[in-house]
Amino acid sequence: MAAVRDASAVMAAPAQIVVDGVSHLYRPPRGRAVLALERVSLEVQNREFIALLGPSGCGKSTLLYLIGGFLPAETGAIRVDGNPVAGPGPDRGIVFQHFALFPWKTVRGNILYGLERQGMPREEREKRALDFIELVGLSGFEDSFPSQLSGGMRQRCAIARTLAFDPKILLMDEPFGALDAQTRGLMQSELLRIWQRTPKTVIFVTHDVQEAVYLADRVAVMSARPGRIKTIVDTKFDKTDPHVHKAKAFVEKVDELWDLVKDEALKAQGVRAP
Ligand SMILES: Nc1ncnc2c1ncn2[C@@H]1O[C@H](COP(=O)(O)OP(=O)(O)O)[C@@H](O)[C@H]1O
Ligand SMILES: [Mg+2]
Repeated sequence: MAAVRDASAVMAAPAQIVVDGVSHLYRPPRGRAVLALERVSLEVQNREFIALLGPSGCGKSTLLYLIGGFLPAETGAIRVDGNPVAGPGPDRGIVFQHFALFPWKTVRGNILYGLERQGMPREEREKRALDFIELVGLSGFEDSFPSQLSGGMRQRCAIARTLAFDPKILLMDEPFGALDAQTRGLMQSELLRIWQRTPKTVIFVTHDVQEAVYLADRVAVMSARPGRIKTIVDTKFDKTDPHVHKAKAFVEKVDELWDLVKDEALKAQGVRAP
């Protein structure tokens, strides 16, 4: 009986991230206002890995910035662990689409920066920085400056910096978009390894269908602007299987999502779907 009660308690647990009827209108000082999001609702469970997939300009980054607290939610509500989001906080770490490293700081310096601001004692933060440099495979490059690193290494440094302060929630905006295919593949498995070792809730923005299906437990497909959640598809696969990309069920899932996204991409370009 106790087990049954426990199961129902788990089912009833409120989502960690609740996006409730959120719209977002950009009002640039010059030019037309842009409705980027329209009544978006989304619930993300604790420790879930969800991908946001949609054509360019559909509001993926906007939604991530709203959850991160970098933009205020003017219409609708966003709650994290039951509390309305009022700004950025240490519970949410964001990895931006374009590497946001300090060019005048080394790899170590970039990672230490956030830990210093958190008030972590010196010895502890030095050790922590080195641990995360090792985790993302940058050992030996501690004293390199961003300009001395490849794009992939810079992005790994940005990821290490965000992971080092141990946010419960990782918000990642096309973090591998600028990488070559091989580095991207390596980074994807690296990210999954990190997610399994240090369980976190991840919202991962991408326009790459295969990447979304591979990484996420669920994929939320967004419609062309104004962005809405068009549908949510379950995409749980065995990520430890090195041949998962070739599995029939995986390939079918990628095709299914491709069709959903293609319609929206055509709409975004003003072409009507056949
Ligand atoms: N600061 C801004 N001012 C005006 N319009 C913006 C601003 N930022 C984004 N937009 C517009 O809002 C829409 C959604 O943008 P964005 O969230 O960046 O989309 P995505 O990340 O899916 O490519 C786009 O049409 C974009 O041009
Ligand atoms: Mg974007």
